[in-house]
Amino acid sequence: MNKLSHIAIIMDGNGRWAQAKGKTRATGHKKGASIVQDITKQAIKENIKYITYYAFSTENWNRPKKEVDSLMNLFEKYLDKEGSFYIKNNVRFNVIGDISKLSIKLQDKISSIMQKTKANTNLVQTLAVNYGSKDEIIRAVNKANKEHKIINEEIIANYLDTHNLPDVDLLIRTGGYKRISNYLLWQIAYAELSFTKTLWPDFSTSEFKKIIKKFKKIKRNFGTLK
Ligand code: IPE
Ligand code: IPE
Ligand code: MG
Repeated sequence: MNKLSHIAIIMDGNGRWAQAKGKTRATGHKKGASIVQDITKQAIKENIKYITYYAFSTENWNRPKKEVDSLMNLFEKYLDKEGSFYIKNNVRFNVIGDISKLSIKLQDKISSIMQKTKANTNLVQTLAVNYGSKDEIIRAVNKANKEHKIINEEIIANYLDTHNLPDVDLLIRTGGYKRISNYLLWQIAYAELSFTKTLWPDFSTSEFKKIIKKFKKIKRNFGTLK
């Protein structure tokens, strides 16, 4: 059975979920955000140590201002509401992405929850916000260049936003598209990929459990003959 340490999730399909119900896209995002902790709780039950959700990409700034604003508002509300979840469930809160582009208020809320939960040990929950894999790699290489003449794999990994996370074992994308959308390109080098048509707001703990069960049975080779 495969060991499963790190799951990454591309939460796609909020807009289509809302559209199908004649609701606003913002309503779709709200519903999408409301299921995140159900999935996190299930991950804890499954003894998974790291879960990383794609919340906002570097490309998502190109959406209409109204949608960007509603996503940022939602993120702020989420942080206000979920702060206690992390404490109660012994979950460490972490963020990847270039948060210097977010409002100071949001940055403060992020660092406050990160600080308060830094000793929590059940699971590390990471949100990718203003995250783009290419942006992350460029930032890492620029930092590494200042201190190292010759760069190797370990040095790059140490400068990535994910320096304190293991590589991804399983990547799940909801919403029907089979693409990566600039998510964790370096970290998914040997990940198993799971694509489901389920729109994110409809994603359930039972589907999540099924995907995990299937993952555990897959033979992973990492390039060798086993
Ligand atoms: C994913 O849902 C959430 C974010 C990108 C913030 P979408 O908003 O992309 O939903 P669809 O893909 O349009 O249905
Ligand atoms: C990926 O979804 C980003 C997030 C889930 C935050 P998108 O909806 O932005 O991806 P594309 O545009 O369909 O590739
Ligand atoms: Mg989408």
